[in-house]
Amino acid sequence: MAVSLLYNSWNTSSFLLFSFFNLQVVNGIEIYSMKIDSKVTSRFAHNVITSRAVNRGNVHKEVVFDVELPKTAFITNFSMTIDGVTYPGTIKEKEVAKKQYEKAVSKGQTAGLVKASGRKTEKFTVSVNIEAASKVTFELTYEELLKRQFGKYEMFIKVKPKQLVKDFEIEVNIFEPQGITELEAEGTFITNDLQNIIKKTFSEKKGHISFKPTLDQQRTCANCSQSVLDGDFTVKYDVKRTTPDNLQIVNGYFVHFFAPTNLPNLPKNVIFVIDISGSMSGREIEQTREALLKILDDIKEDDFFNFILFGSEVRTWKETLIKATPENLDEARKFVRGINTEGMTNLHGGLMRGIDMLNAAHEGNLVPKRSASIIIMLTDGQPNVGISNTQDIQAHVKKAIEGKYPLYNLGFGYGVDYNFLEKMALENKGLARRIYPDSDASLQLQGFYDEVSNPMLTDVELNYPVNEISDLTKNSFKHFYDGSEIVVAGRFIDNNQNSLTVDVRGEGVSMDFFDLSTVHKQTAKAFQEQQYIFGDYIERLWAYLTIEQLLEERIAATGEEKENLTAEALDLSLKYKFVTPLTSMVVTKPETYDNQDGIADKPIEAPQLSYLYNSHPTWYTSVDGDPHFIISVPQKKDAICFNINENPGAVLNLINDPVTGITVNGELIGDKRVNSDAKIQNTYFGKLGIANKHLDLRLTVTPEKITIQNGNEKTGFTWLDSVTLQQEGLTLIINREKSLVLKMGSGASFVIVLHQVWKKHPLHQDFLGLYALESEKLSEQTHGLLGQFFHPIDFTILEIHPGSDPKKPDATMIVKNNELTVTRGWQKDYRRDPKHGVDVPCWFVHNNGAGLIDGVHTDYIVSSLF
Ligand SMILES: *[C@@H]1O[C@H](CO)[C@@H](O)[C@H](O)[C@H]1NC(C)=O
Ligand SMILES: *[C@@H]1O[C@H](CO)[C@@H](O)[C@H](O)[C@H]1NC(C)=O
Ligand SMILES: *[C@@H]1O[C@H](CO)[C@@H](O)[C@H](O)[C@H]1NC(C)=O
Repeated sequence: MAVSLLYNSWNTSSFLLFSFFNLQVVNGIEIYSMKIDSKVTSRFAHNVITSRAVNRGNVHKEVVFDVELPKTAFITNFSMTIDGVTYPGTIKEKEVAKKQYEKAVSKGQTAGLVKASGRKTEKFTVSVNIEAASKVTFELTYEELLKRQFGKYEMFIKVKPKQLVKDFEIEVNIFEPQGITELEAEGTFITNDLQNIIKKTFSEKKGHISFKPTLDQQRTCANCSQSVLDGDFTVKYDVKRTTPDNLQIVNGYFVHFFAPTNLPNLPKNVIFVIDISGSMSGREIEQTREALLKILDDIKEDDFFNFILFGSEVRTWKETLIKATPENLDEARKFVRGINTEGMTNLHGGLMRGIDMLNAAHEGNLVPKRSASIIIMLTDGQPNVGISNTQDIQAHVKKAIEGKYPLYNLGFGYGVDYNFLEKMALENKGLARRIYPDSDASLQLQGFYDEVSNPMLTDVELNYPVNEISDLTKNSFKHFYDGSEIVVAGRFIDNNQNSLTVDVRGEGVSMDFFDLSTVHKQTAKAFQEQQYIFGDYIERLWAYLTIEQLLEERIAATGEEKENLTAEALDLSLKYKFVTPLTSMVVTKPETYDNQDGIADKPIEAPQLSYLYNSHPTWYTSVDGDPHFIISVPQKKDAICFNINENPGAVLNLINDPVTGITVNGELIGDKRVNSDAKIQNTYFGKLGIANKHLDLRLTVTPEKITIQNGNEKTGFTWLDSVTLQQEGLTLIINREKSLVLKMGSGASFVIVLHQVWKKHPLHQDFLGLYALESEKLSEQTHGLLGQFFHPIDFTILEIHPGSDPKKPDATMIVKNNELTVTRGWQKDYRRDPKHGVDVPCWFVHNNGAGLIDGVHTDYIVSSLF
C-alpha cells in the first residue's frame, strides 16, 4: 500500500479560514460520507474533516484524499482508519521526520512528498490502496485564529467532492462570549434551490450553520450523476464590542481582543514608492496605474500623499507631501496616467527619497501632528542600480525610518527577492505582501490599500501587570486600522488567577492618549458553557499566536537570536502538535502492506526564482514561435537565430545532458489546415517532454495541461491553476494561463510560455515556447538543437551589405569555421508578454540553421517524447 501525503497551495493574506475539500474518485471507490465539522470559539477555529470511502470493486484500489487548507492554519492531527484499525499521525521535528520518510523511500517505494505553496491555501493529499470491499476513513484536523478584516471574521470552505456523496455535511458552530451581531453563509455554487438548504441560526453567543444536501439535491440535473458541489462556501460574522467579555480567562491563560469602534479616523500621510523599471512594462504597469487611480478616488481630503517613481533614476511627483484637495487629486490622476517604465531598478534611491521626504514633512510640521504616516512600496524586481546590496539597503532604511512609521512592501510577481522585502518590512513595523501576476493584480493592490486606509490609532500599547503575567504575545502595535482587531494572549503566573487589569494606550485624533483602563473579574465558571466547544482553546490560541509571532520574528533575525527563536517555536510546535514550518506529521501505514510512511509538511513560500526574470533579460537560449531558436551571445551583446522547418508530428531533441540526466524534447504541430499557398508550412511546439532520469521525473506540457510523473506517481494541473509546487529536486510555478517556471535539482531552469490563440481561429492553434535559463548548470556534454548552444559560442560578422529586404541587411558570419550568409532581423521574446512579445535583434541563419548547428537538423529528430 502506498501512502503519500502531498501538500500544495496559494497567498499569505489570509485572515480567512478555508478548507478546500476534495476527494477524487477512482473507479469503484464510493465516498459515502464527507463531513466538515468546524468549531469556532472566540475566533479560534478547530476543524475536523472526515471522509469515508468503500471499495465496491473486486480488486484493490487507490483512494485519494486531498484537502486545501488556509496557509495560516496549522494541521494538528491526521489519521486513517482502515477496516476498523486506526493509523495515527505523529508530530516530529522536520529533520527527524524527513529521515524517517527518506528511509522509506530508499527502500524502493515511491512516495510523493510534494510541498507546494500557492496563493491562499496549501494542499494536503493522501492516497491509500484499499482491498476489495474494504473501508477507509480519513480524518484531518487543523486549527487557525480567524483574523478580523473589514469588520468581519470570514471563514470560507471550498467544496469539491467530485462525486455524489450520500452523507454530505458542513456544520459550523460558533461560540463568541461577546455576542454575535451578524452571521452570513453563502456559496458560489449555491442555486436558489440550494439556498434553502443552508440552515443558519444565531442568538446571543451562539451561531450555527449547517449545509446538508441530499443526493438528489447534489445532482446537476434530475438524472445526472454529476455534483453541483464545486466552489466556495463562505461564513462571515462579527461580534459585539463589549467589555469585559473582550477579555477571556480560562485555566490560567487569557486572551484580550481589542477593536474599538466609533473612533474618528486619523488623517494619513502616504508615500507611494513605485518601481517603474523596464521589467514592469506591459500589463504590470497598466495594472499599477489602474490601481493607483482607484486608490486616488479613495484618498480623503485630510490626507497627504506623494508618488516616488524609481527606474534607473528616481523621480518624484511633487517635492513634498501634498494635501489631497480635489485639484491636487486631479493633477495626481494626470500624473498617474502618464507613468511609464524605464531603465533598471534603483530601489534604494526610491525608498530613501520617500523616507527622507516623510521625515522632512514631520520635522517641518507640514503634516498634521496627529496623523498616521505610511510608506507603501511596490516592486517587481531586485535592486540593481545605486546601492544594490540588500543588507546595506536594509540597514539604511532602518536607520532612516527609526520605527516612526510602518513600511509596507508589495512584491509584484516572482522576480522579487521576497525574503528581502519581507525582512525589511518586518524590521520596520510593516509587512510584505505578494501581488500575484494575474488579471486581478490591480484589485490585489487596491485591496491592500483598503486594509491600511483607515488608521484610528497610532502607537497602541496594551499593558498587563508584569508581576502577574508571563509569556505575553506581542502587545505594542504601530497602527490600529478600522475593521481589524488586536489580539494579545498570555499566561498567568498564578494558575488560579481569574481577574486582570488592562491598560491600553494609543494616540487618536482628539486625545493625547486614548486611555482605557479596566478591571476584569472573570471566573472560569462563567465560561463553562463554552467548554462544550473545546476546553483548552485559550491555551491553544496563545500557543498558536506565540508560534506565529516567533516564526515571524525569525524572518528578520540572525545568528544566535534566530537559533533561540527557532528552538522556542519548535518546542511549542511539538508540545501543542502543530504542523509548522519546523515540524512534520508522519503517518506510518499498516505494516501488512509495505513499509512506507507518509509525511505532511508545511510548504515553503514560493522560492526565490528572481534570476529567471531579472538579470540580462535577453541573454538566454530559447525556442518559440514557428519554431524559431534564439541563441544569445553575451560577450557580443548580440544573438543568433534560426528556424527549423519540419512536419507536424516530428519530435525534436532540444536538450540532452547525459550527466545531469535532463532531456527536453518537443513535438511539432501545424496549423489547423494546410495553407496551400505557402511554400513552408508553419509548425509550433504542441507538446514538450522534460525528463530527469536521475530523479525518475517526467513532465509533459501541452497547451491544455501539465502532467508530472514521478515514478508511478502522477500529478496533473491545468493552465487554469495558479500553483507553486516544491518537491524534492523540482520547483514548479504555474502562472495561470501564462507561463510555467521549472527548476530541476541543481540543474538548469526553464520557462515555458503558453501561447493562446482565439478559440475559433480558423488557422492557428495554441502552442508553447521554451526558454532555458541558468544553462551553465548543465554539463559540458549537453547537446541537442538548443543544448549545444549552452556552451560559449563566438562568431564574427563581416561585410554587412544590403539584402533582398531593404530593412534587413545581409552579412557574412564566420562561426564554427563556416562562412555563412546571414540576415539581420528580429525575433520575439515572449516570456513577459505572451501576446505581443518583445523584439530581440539577431543574426538569422538560413536553411534550418545549416552550418551553425552540429550536423543537419534531421539528426535531431527522435522517435518519441521520452
Ligand atoms: C488524532 O485523531 C485520532 C482519530 O480521531 C484520535 O484517536 C487521536 O486521539 C487524535 N490525536 C490527538 C492528539 O488529538
Ligand atoms: C430519468 O430517468 C428515468 C428513469 O430511468 C427515465 O424514465 C427518464 O427518461 C430520465 N430522464 C432524463 C431526462 O433522462
Ligand atoms: C539564547 O538562549 C540562550 C540560552 O537560553 C541565552 O543564554 C542567550 O542569551 C540567548 N541569546 C539571544 C541572542 O537571545
